[in-house]
Amino acid sequence: MTSDKDIWVSGAGLKGGLSMEYILWKPCYCIGHQKIDGQHKQLVELLNVLIQKVCGSCPKSVIDAALTELINYAENHFRDEESIMESIGYPEFLEHQREHDRLIMEVFAFKEKFDHGWVGKFELLEFVRDWLLNHVLDVDLKLKKYVRS
Ligand SMILES: [Fe+2]
Ligand SMILES: [Fe+2]
Repeated sequence: MTSDKDIWVSGAGLKGGLSMEYILWKPCYCIGHQKIDGQHKQLVELLNVLIQKVCGSCPKSVIDAALTELINYAENHFRDEESIMESIGYPEFLEHQREHDRLIMEVFAFKEKFDHGWVGKFELLEFVRDWLLNHVLDVDLKLKKYVRS
């Protein structure tokens, strides 16, 4: 697992308030498959956009749009990744697919809480950050020894 120190860079702080730093993509996060790595980078970019909207005190509708874009992209990415895993005969395919399904259910459940105002925007941001990075920088890295671009 990657340590927090490796991930965060300064940039998105709120003066005198809560803050979260942008995420810097590093080559060591790559698994060696061009399509998957490209999509992971794009997911991190979309997460950075969400961080920017939240820390920039944007209206809820703007934060919601950034969140929706990230979730939609993640859903499409999960399906692409599953096709690739299946095509290479990845031994943990079914387990990984179930994990993707669980992640999607989890993020929609949290989004609903945010939509209802039951959780704040910083709680949302922390959830989405951990939700995405724990998977991409840990579970997906297991694919590394099986893929060829
Ligand atoms: Fe992935
Ligand atoms: Fe995955």
